[in-house]
Amino acid sequence: MRDCRIADTTKRTAPTTTVSVNTAARIIAQTGRGLFLDVGCGTLPSPGYMAASGSDVNWIGIDPLLGDVARRFPFVQAVGEYLPFRDQTFDGVLYASTIYHQMDPRQSLERARRVIRPHGKLYVWYDSDRINGRYIVWRIRQMLGRPCHYSKTARWAFTRSSLRSILNQTGFAVEEEVLLCVRCPDYATCRRPATFLVIAR
Ligand SMILES: C[S@@+](CC[C@H](N)C(=O)[O-])C[C@H]1O[C@@H](n2cnc3c(N)ncnc32)[C@H](O)[C@@H]1O
Repeated sequence: MRDCRIADTTKRTAPTTTVSVNTAARIIAQTGRGLFLDVGCGTLPSPGYMAASGSDVNWIGIDPLLGDVARRFPFVQAVGEYLPFRDQTFDGVLYASTIYHQMDPRQSLERARRVIRPHGKLYVWYDSDRINGRYIVWRIRQMLGRPCHYSKTARWAFTRSSLRSILNQTGFAVEEEVLLCVRCPDYATCRRPATFLVIAR
């Protein structure tokens, strides 16, 4: 980890129209239950997806930002790279628009792997990037050992294939990849960036 500043990313819009929030929450409720960790839960009293995920999913959130208002769910001030929980504690771990804000996504996912119970699932809700000029320059700088933030608001960027790859490298296998874009029927016609909910074990 070279750069340890924590950006105030709460102003960046999460991939969250009401429709996609409800869809993501419904998918979580259909595919999981029990104790869930929200990595980078934000500073709202209760993110929409928590309320919409039903009573079988119980949330604990972590975020480096304390925020100004009390949260309506159990909260610990922490970062994903150093999760303050025992191994095999959670039935599910969610990154909702937070994977690209981690200081070190690989370390964060490795920690997530450890705190998920053997039958548990990982959910990564993110905007996928495509390989374009900006992405290539950013990747080359990384490879040359001169990393920089991908954009003003995001430290990292993930294409569908680079997300899959980091998940595999940290011990996860992708089970499902659901396109959450509201207006586009499929990835090919989706405007960039496309929003996905990836479910992995
Ligand atoms: C775009 S917000 C998403 C908030 C919430 N998940 C939502 O969808 O409404 C990104 C959040 O990631 C948090 N964050 C930044 N770096 C983090 C890290 N290393 N570990 C965990 N969370 C982090 C930020 O503080 C911010 O609250």
